[in-house]
Amino acid sequence: MTTSDGARDDTTERVLEQAVARETAVHGRRWAAQYGGYFNDPAVAAPFLDVIEDGLRAKAPDVLVDLGGGTGFILAELIRRGKLSPAVKLYDMDLSDRQLESLADARIRPLKSSFLEFRRDAVAAGAERLMLITRSTLHYAGLAGQKPLLRHLRGQLRPGELFIHQTACNARPEDALLVDELLERLHSEKWLPPLDSLVRLCEDAGFRVARVADAPDLAMDEATLADRYGIAPGEMADIRARLGEAYADSPRWRSTPEGFVALLGYKILVCEAA
Ligand SMILES: C[S@@+](CC[C@H](N)C(=O)[O-])C[C@H]1O[C@@H](n2cnc3c(N)ncnc32)[C@H](O)[C@@H]1O
Repeated sequence: MTTSDGARDDTTERVLEQAVARETAVHGRRWAAQYGGYFNDPAVAAPFLDVIEDGLRAKAPDVLVDLGGGTGFILAELIRRGKLSPAVKLYDMDLSDRQLESLADARIRPLKSSFLEFRRDAVAAGAERLMLITRSTLHYAGLAGQKPLLRHLRGQLRPGELFIHQTACNARPEDALLVDELLERLHSEKWLPPLDSLVRLCEDAGFRVARVADAPDLAMDEATLADRYGIAPGEMADIRARLGEAYADSPRWRSTPEGFVALLGYKILVCEAA
């Protein structure tokens, strides 16, 4: 794997591919129902869609790519809301065949690729202007993968072009610790930064963070996590006991009759290639 700055980055690629491989069982038709339908709900997506539409108005790109776009829900919603020019070419880039096979609208072109393989010349010719969007994907790259991934994406954009992402993160560092510990105990290498760190990572990669906006929390319930990460009941009980004690006072942790719910925070960042 060669990133835009020429460095090989097999570790990040391995982390990314393993994370997707673990989840293919819930991709495709089962995807819409995950986490109470969070990823298939127009009201939940509305703040992100509003910010993207502002970006489309401001920059009038020729090509719009949703990185890790899954079943194409975000692009399909942009089409449905009617503010997207029919001239804009739309790509859903994802590593999962099952996600791409379930594409929500014929106007959306599937592009099978991994984040670090994505190159602007695969979608935009010559002077065509590009905009990148993504929701809930950067954490797949893990702690060590954030810098290479952001640098690579910045390398695919020209100055002034936008990368708009809704990314799992938390304004309060202690809330980030809760979710990071939970993911670690689920044997996942995903990593969620505190918001301040995410902004700094984007700036270090060569973006100007022009705007930070709120997005709805995702409620991660025990049953969905056990299914998605393949955790046996006994191990899940240990996780529940350990985190229930450590984070008993956290407003982001709830014990319920069915188990626990942990709240995952999100922010929307408008990043302009500097
Ligand atoms: C949590 S889902 C979000 C889907 C979509 N962005 C949405 O918000 O509805 C993450 C998506 O990212 C994709 N993904 C994860 N790692 C990837 C990678 N390295 N390259 C391309 N896609 C990836 C997964 O296959 C999955 O469809």
